[in-house]
Amino acid sequence: MRSLLLLVSLGLVAAEDGSSGWLRYSPSPQANRYYHTLPSQVITLNNTEVSPVYVACLELQKGLQGIFGKRVNVTHENGNASASVIVGTVDKYIKVYGNADEVPKLKEDGFWLSTEHDTVRILGQNERGALYGTFEYLSMLAQGNFSQVTYATNPNAPIRWVNHWDNMDGSIERGYGDRSIFFENGEVVDNPDRASKYARLLASIRINGVIVNNVNANASLLSSRNIEGLGRIADAFRPYGVQLGISLNFASPKLVGGLSTFDPLDASVIAWWTKITDEIYQHIPDMAGYLIKANSEGQPGPLTYNRTLAQGANLFAKALRPHGGIVMFRAFVYNQLNESDWKADRANAAVEFFKDLDGQFDDNVVVQIKYGPIDFQVREPTSPLFGNLYKTSTAIELQVTQEYLGQQCHLVYLPPLWKTVLDFDLRVDNKSSLVSDIISGERFRRPLGGSAAVVNVGTSTTWLGSHLAMSNLYAYGRLAWNPADDPQSMLQDWIRLTFSLDENVINTITKMFMQSWPAYENYSGNLGIQTLTDILYTHFGPNPASQDNNGWGQWTRADHMTIGMDRTVSNGTGFSGQYPPEIAQRYENIDTTPDDLLLWFHHVNYTHRLQSGKTVIQHFYDAHYNGAETAQAFVTMWESLKDKIDSERYNEVLFRQTYQAGHSIVWRDAVSNYYWNLSGIPDEANRVGHHPWRIEAESMTLNGYEAYLVHPFETASNYTAIITTSNTTVGTATVKLEYPSGIYDVAVNYYDLMGGKAHWQVYLNNSTFGQWVGDNEDTLGHAPSAYLDGHSATRRTFRNVTIENGDVLQIVGTPNGIEPAPLDYVALLPPGLID
Ligand code: GCU
Repeated sequence: MRSLLLLVSLGLVAAEDGSSGWLRYSPSPQANRYYHTLPSQVITLNNTEVSPVYVACLELQKGLQGIFGKRVNVTHENGNASASVIVGTVDKYIKVYGNADEVPKLKEDGFWLSTEHDTVRILGQNERGALYGTFEYLSMLAQGNFSQVTYATNPNAPIRWVNHWDNMDGSIERGYGDRSIFFENGEVVDNPDRASKYARLLASIRINGVIVNNVNANASLLSSRNIEGLGRIADAFRPYGVQLGISLNFASPKLVGGLSTFDPLDASVIAWWTKITDEIYQHIPDMAGYLIKANSEGQPGPLTYNRTLAQGANLFAKALRPHGGIVMFRAFVYNQLNESDWKADRANAAVEFFKDLDGQFDDNVVVQIKYGPIDFQVREPTSPLFGNLYKTSTAIELQVTQEYLGQQCHLVYLPPLWKTVLDFDLRVDNKSSLVSDIISGERFRRPLGGSAAVVNVGTSTTWLGSHLAMSNLYAYGRLAWNPADDPQSMLQDWIRLTFSLDENVINTITKMFMQSWPAYENYSGNLGIQTLTDILYTHFGPNPASQDNNGWGQWTRADHMTIGMDRTVSNGTGFSGQYPPEIAQRYENIDTTPDDLLLWFHHVNYTHRLQSGKTVIQHFYDAHYNGAETAQAFVTMWESLKDKIDSERYNEVLFRQTYQAGHSIVWRDAVSNYYWNLSGIPDEANRVGHHPWRIEAESMTLNGYEAYLVHPFETASNYTAIITTSNTTVGTATVKLEYPSGIYDVAVNYYDLMGGKAHWQVYLNNSTFGQWVGDNEDTLGHAPSAYLDGHSATRRTFRNVTIENGDVLQIVGTPNGIEPAPLDYVALLPPGLID
């Protein structure tokens, strides 16, 4: 223990790779003080090594050792309760110790925690609950919370799952944290160690189910070999109380079963699913259930045979019923639409498909509804489907995966966004109807319900590819348990567990995170217009035009005068009428529609005045500039923590924050320029299109480089970049600087393409002050585009460069692969100036 305390007292921070997530059990600065007040043994009320109770006891050993350097033994039953932690179920405790009168009645998975100095009791309604309580106790200790507590806690809802979009070949749909931890080369991985470590993380946030494969499911998952493999993963999950479930391809009977049909009412199809389900349960007796994406985005489903979606869902419900399994049936069903039809609206689809099926689903079916009517956008109104199903169990679908929200390369702390939906009162029948009470089953007295979040954990040591993104996974679990939890206080728990107990660290990171979603919304698409990303390609960088003129229905209906979707009943798509009357009225009326959803519900002139008093177009400009400015500040905030965070994580986060700061300017300029170009209305503050500190690459003297018109135009400053004249020619771009002598930050905007690692070197009067490689694919784990566009546009900044008027700046670009060392512009920025 002494060496451990020494390390702490010296304030040294050991390098960390993020693999422990928030379960680090790092040495407590108060270890000395509390060491002797801690329990000295752990009493397990279950001695079976793979039981969650026993696993909880091992976790206690590990935690107490890590935090306090205290070694404790695990003993069995009957032990003397004083100076001990007792872990078990309430029932077992009563058997061993006579009674548990103080413990209130617990719901499934609930627990009771009582700490009286060195005597601690952690009793679960079931074993899983006992494990959850143990993680709770350890979390308190790890956060330096030594208060004496006695309380019970129960989950808001029974279903607290995560969904993995992992493919059988080991890739992950919308994955930004490397390869799948479950599959490789078409099969389930042999070694389930990482699955076991993942289950531990999940148990600590009270997640009880994992759908391991993509909703766009591959029927080959159902081969005998793969079912056996799934059994291995389920065995690895089980000690942590995590149940495995799978996504199914609706057409499997035809694709792999040798049948000529997948009609859900066909007897041979029913027999086939029953048989395969029975086979799965032989290998996984506690399988959680199935997740079904049917008749959506090209996936097969019951509509092919003129059967209803409910008939499709019930096919699986019946096969699962004898085993106690659940069908999660996704409400994400929609068709391609024609934008020339003013009344067409993808947002209407879920209610149109599901409302009339209410009452037709079997009891073990849960309709899984994305939080908004479209698709995980930066802001959407609550899906009205939650208020339209009285006789159907429902679950909310969230996305920890930041598909439309910066793909884990931008810091976006999501709980404040999720809370706009969970806390939303739909006022069904003019009564309080919070979404959190609907999904718990309480509001409509449904037996099931809960939440599912898409999570793209992979083989990256950081799990999600970004240390900071783990906050979203942590908080998702907390909210699934208790949707009333406060985003900021959950965040601060996570900070203490992940980084430090230091007040300065906590306050600084809190500030960054709580500003992060508003900042991202500001620079990526505000007033309810959705994330203005490229919806036809990779969903990452800006491309406002991609929203319209296609059948996907994520339209903005922007023209040179107007913008927004008219979703009113009186003149538009009628979507607002899908809400219960009180809410419908609020959105129908432009004066009562909140500014942040204005363009979701109304089609207006750019000059329309918001409640804030600004015009729509000026709000766009201001918001984009403000958002990008906030993202710059994240870098300085993070830098202020340099000595307080281990260098490995400090540098990795700094790299990403610097990237985000640059990419937020790409977003800002692209969206602002796009709407300036479309509307012709200038920015009152004269910022948009005016960049006095920039030198366009195409205006420099070029050798081996040539001008290149970038598409979309708004993703290059002045529409134009330069590329080398061939993929083997080294290019130079040279300029004589006519700037007042002084100290500048030199920012270089370039494009980092996948499929090449070009090299750039910057010289001032023949001496180099900076160089880099276009290797975002390695360093960021992300190079989402093979083109010069808003995804690949990247910025590097060299700070505090002393420049004399008349100095010569030269950039030498060496192409590699398909990356022709592209350059957009150089900005010479006096200190403090952002552009
Ligand atoms: C989004 C996402 C797809 C995914 C789909 C779904 O559209 O881009 O990759 O398959 O949602 O949720 O089914």
